[in-house]
Amino acid sequence: MRTCLEVREITKSFPGVLANDHVNLTVREGEIHAILGENGAGKSTLVKIIYGLYKPDSGSIRLYDQELNFASPRQAIEAGIGMVHQHFMLIPALTVAENVVLGGEPGRIHYRRKENVEIVRQLAKQYHMELDPDAKVGDLTVGLQQRVEILKVFYRKAKLLILDEPTAMLTPQEVEELILVMERLRSQGVPIVFISHKLDEVQRISDHVTVMRAGKTVNTVETKSTTPQELANLMVGREVVLHVSKLPQKLGEPVLELVDIVVSSGRNEKVKKVSFEVHRGEIFGLAGIDGNGQFELVEAITGLLPCKTGRIRLLGKDITSSSVQHRTNAGIAYIPQDRQLDGLVMDFELTENFVLRDFSKAPFARLGQMQVKPIEEYATRLSEDFDVRPRRIHALAQNLSGGNQQKVILAREVSRNPELLIAAQPTRGLDVGAIQFIHNKLLELRSDGKAILLVSLELDEILALSDRIGVFYAGRLMGIFPSGQVTREQLGLLMTGVDLGSGGRL
Ligand SMILES: Nc1ncnc2c1ncn2[C@@H]1O[C@H](COP(=O)(O)OP(=O)(O)O)[C@@H](O)[C@H]1O
Ligand SMILES: [Mg+2]
Repeated sequence: MRTCLEVREITKSFPGVLANDHVNLTVREGEIHAILGENGAGKSTLVKIIYGLYKPDSGSIRLYDQELNFASPRQAIEAGIGMVHQHFMLIPALTVAENVVLGGEPGRIHYRRKENVEIVRQLAKQYHMELDPDAKVGDLTVGLQQRVEILKVFYRKAKLLILDEPTAMLTPQEVEELILVMERLRSQGVPIVFISHKLDEVQRISDHVTVMRAGKTVNTVETKSTTPQELANLMVGREVVLHVSKLPQKLGEPVLELVDIVVSSGRNEKVKKVSFEVHRGEIFGLAGIDGNGQFELVEAITGLLPCKTGRIRLLGKDITSSSVQHRTNAGIAYIPQDRQLDGLVMDFELTENFVLRDFSKAPFARLGQMQVKPIEEYATRLSEDFDVRPRRIHALAQNLSGGNQQKVILAREVSRNPELLIAAQPTRGLDVGAIQFIHNKLLELRSDGKAILLVSLELDEILALSDRIGVFYAGRLMGIFPSGQVTREQLGLLMTGVDLGSGGRL
């Protein structure tokens, strides 16, 4: 197959970071070429350079016979490079056709509606993408908006399509549809560069994988002759344990009981009469698409938001109107969704962050005085137990990587020996190694007989860890299922409000 894109020795630094370090990449005609790497590996930087958004410090890029000189995205587009960014660049008030034709070309005023609608209809047909050219983009789902972005690229006659983390905000069904679109494009000979940090997707879709780590392209392998294990090791740079082993466990007494909880935020009811229990020795996974009220429910349990009606009980005691502090003391530990905002004090040292909830109590304080020695000893022990790197207890929280910040929160919360741990998106944005570590810690707590409420937007995480799964949609529970008795696809449908019983939408 002919070479389409040839990236040679691209280097790009930002102040303090070598984002791309002598990067090489070869993409051939008709292939889906994945770039796999953890957050911060340099993937987006590389494709932004290819697209002319950043100028590299050195190196060269060739598209077929043409040397690119990185002048601007306009030049890249003219050369035939199409890119769909992590964040869409559509105009919600305009129609699909208007976005496809006008997008990115300000000043073009002779817009011929009829003609363009027809062009876009044809284009959509040619690439087998169902889309109504007259629909308003603001009314479309994320998955359909992404199709508009892809059509925009082909309207400009792209010879190469770059998709930067295209599955990140899609539902499982939308991911399936995107995969179909990508496969059709491949069968028409369109080369695709597909960026992801998810092993399973890369394994499923791509023909070749180039793995990036810390700014370098560490290897390019043929997808069908590699394994997830090999890819994970390349990605992280050391041996990773890929599978969590979950031993069967007996359900204990209920630790958390929610009865008909209603939570309002502003004028809207975000949680509408939700009831369930979380027992000792179980991980209860709450699945759902962002914005369906699951995080409001979490805040109601932790005491950050009031319940309008309903009761919350912890080990049989009513805590519905207790303060956050009281709930913490009663045994609720909390890993918040936004660790930088709610989890850590970023300009405090690790020592201080480790004792954030207990700094006024013995042994960390005596007669109102902070006790340095016990705090340092505690911080050292937690850093070791939870493998926080670097092992510098006086480092500021802000100077740690996301994964290590999350370990600090987990260490602090878990070491208080809670009855209930609420983990909201505990591995968001972390690398495979840190994800594994955190998953194993959650499972350890489970074996210790703790109750864990896991709220995650990652269906894979819910499926890997949960004993029972509750699906949240529009403020309600669509159902509760023992794990193993519900498929990924069924969960995906429930998450979009499809009632499996009737087969129709709610
Ligand atoms: N515009 C920028 N200014 C400064 N640093 C940046 C910029 N863009 C990316 N970086 C840094 O470069 C590194 C690689 O980032 P990026 O290419 O976005 O990684 P990825 O897409 O693989 O997650 C990171 O350390 C990031 O913080
Ligand atoms: Mg990126």
